[in-house]
Amino acid sequence: MDTLLTTEFTGRTELPWGRSYAMVEPSQFRIDYAINPFMDTAVQPDPARAKAQWHRLVATLRELGAEVHAIEARPDSPDMVYAMNLGLPVIGADADGASDPRVLLSHMRYPERQRETESAADWFARHHHRAGRIGRDGVGPHFEAGDAFAWRGELVVGFGPRTEESALPLLAAELEVRVHGVRITHPGMYHLDLAFCPLDERRALICPDAFDPASAAALLAAIPEPLVITEEEALTTFCANAVVIGRTVVMPGCPRHIAEQLTAWGFEVVVVDVSEFHLGGGSVRCLTNPLDVTVGRDLLRVPGGAVVLAQEGESAA
Ligand code: ARG
Repeated sequence: MDTLLTTEFTGRTELPWGRSYAMVEPSQFRIDYAINPFMDTAVQPDPARAKAQWHRLVATLRELGAEVHAIEARPDSPDMVYAMNLGLPVIGADADGASDPRVLLSHMRYPERQRETESAADWFARHHHRAGRIGRDGVGPHFEAGDAFAWRGELVVGFGPRTEESALPLLAAELEVRVHGVRITHPGMYHLDLAFCPLDERRALICPDAFDPASAAALLAAIPEPLVITEEEALTTFCANAVVIGRTVVMPGCPRHIAEQLTAWGFEVVVVDVSEFHLGGGSVRCLTNPLDVTVGRDLLRVPGGAVVLAQEGESAA
């Protein structure tokens, strides 16, 4: 079988990105509707506990040396606290080599979340990011940024429950990168970041049960040292929904064998309880959106872009 990610990305182990995050304060967090299997409008989060957990997460990220920028919540968008889904920020370089911050705004699958993008557009504009879109207000393919990770030079993108397959060539062309599509089939792991978490340039957490067999095999084969988690571990501990800052992994919970392997690899595990946010179907990674993914460092620039799918091999975007 073809390995999915073939780029040589040696000579460095730690992920260089993940030192700066956007987060949305939880002042409007509620379960007003159910768009994933975790959500139940009869089970509401405790606002005081949610606020305390969110602030503890912010403090932890800052203690680890990361910057955190807060985005104001919209009263009409109770899921906006899951900031990862607002869009995919990337720092590019303009023709003169100067820093060119951009954001590819999400086009949310469910209308309940589409208003969030407008607030995200305002925030990123105020913070000097050039915005791009591949669809809006139900027109064009859906793309939710929780489905995308820069890893080993390429953008790994989950599609199926939220992001549509037809978004992949547009993402590749817009960002001029190589997109590796993996098909998600598990309704409970509806974003890639519930089943996959890059740890460094060689290692990643992966829950193969999230994907169709071809995508699971291709993604596993692409990870030099995979750390496999079970479906139950992914769904009950949200352990793949973690944030990595250098050699520290900030996780909402950590099964013992995962902690042992991470420690053996030289990582420090920091567990932060964000259980109130599990009621909405998201955890540490969903609450944070990295602002420092950089083209030319974390993503190789591929003029015109390209897409690789597990089943079909490579084609131009
Ligand atoms: N309730 C939100 C939704 O269903 C949860 C988002 C989780 N975010 C993530 N990056 N996985 O859209």
